[in-house]
Amino acid sequence: MILMNDFKAEPEALLQQELAAVERVLRSGWYVLGHEVKQFEARWAEQCGVSFAVGVGNGMDALEIGLRTLQIGVGDEVITTPMTAFATVLAVLRAGATPVLADIDPETALLDLHSVERCLSPRTKAVLLVHLYGQVRQVDRWIDFCAGTGVHLLEDCAQAHLARWQGKTAGSLGTWGAYSFYPTKNLGAIGDGGAIVTQNAAIDQQARILRNYGQSQRYHHPQAGLNSRLDELQAALLSTRLAWLEAFTQRRQTIAQAYFAHIHNPQIRLLAEPLALENHVYHLFVLQCTERDRLSAYLTEQGIANLAHYPVPIHQHPPCLHLQRDPQGLLAAETHAANCLSIPCQPQMSDLDVTHVIEVLNAYA
Ligand SMILES: Cc1ncc(COP(=O)(O)O)c(C=O)c1O
Repeated sequence: MILMNDFKAEPEALLQQELAAVERVLRSGWYVLGHEVKQFEARWAEQCGVSFAVGVGNGMDALEIGLRTLQIGVGDEVITTPMTAFATVLAVLRAGATPVLADIDPETALLDLHSVERCLSPRTKAVLLVHLYGQVRQVDRWIDFCAGTGVHLLEDCAQAHLARWQGKTAGSLGTWGAYSFYPTKNLGAIGDGGAIVTQNAAIDQQARILRNYGQSQRYHHPQAGLNSRLDELQAALLSTRLAWLEAFTQRRQTIAQAYFAHIHNPQIRLLAEPLALENHVYHLFVLQCTERDRLSAYLTEQGIANLAHYPVPIHQHPPCLHLQRDPQGLLAAETHAANCLSIPCQPQMSDLDVTHVIEVLNAYA
């Protein structure tokens, strides 16, 4: 089976480095918020081209904490997409704010600017841009739009590690960026992890307080925060895996380029190619097919794993049925949800695997 993620096939050298990192932490006698976390935070900030990175428990907490550092909460609206992981919107709800859903561009499945314009209100405090599937696109338009309307541009970078727009890395383009290091992400821990990245020292300080119960100094709690700390083991493993990230990302991009060049089947539509290679890190490679479930069953039968990201748009989940949205509806997101299918595009795939996926897709009738 060609898998969506194949951790067991990772290089032996990486495994040995991970085992050494685990031993280092065990022997250090310090397990939460220590030297390894500081070191990983410094490395991740550097990778993202920002001054600060704050390690937290997971990507959803990174989003919630990020919103709370800006005091975005009750009565405030945050415009975002219905085509994302549930955690994006759940984080807005947990911050106490009101998510407002705008529709997507069917060519990329990313937020549509005209729809966002229709969602603006005097209560809008931020646009939460999700770099879905690993793509950053038209960021200059979003920067101009947010500057012009006086709202924050916030980045959900959970799927976009090292994706770049005109040389600038995801997370450095808006007020802050929120990362997830869930194991399946392009940079994944061996468990949960996340980070907030920012250029703003006040946001960095606030995030450090909020992640640790709202504690400013030991046993002093000026705020009611969360318990959302990155542990030493995950930080050490993330530093180890970070050394491999650029090479793994290049492999994903090479596979995607082969897909764009060789998948030719009138029944299958590919999303728009990125404008530049650096704009997409292919956390997921997503197809469109009007008979998605039939294509999915066919691929599985042929030994090719696949998944839909996401089969249900946010506004169709029971806790979100009431959410505010574009008055013209969310038809593009609904159509995408019905037709999308992700195929394997992960760094452990061999050239033979890639050729097999292409041949099987081209033979689909
Ligand atoms: C776009 C997006 N946002 C947020 C999250 C939440 O990250 P985590 O699972 O680390 O809480 C995810 C992960 O599934 C995601 O894909």
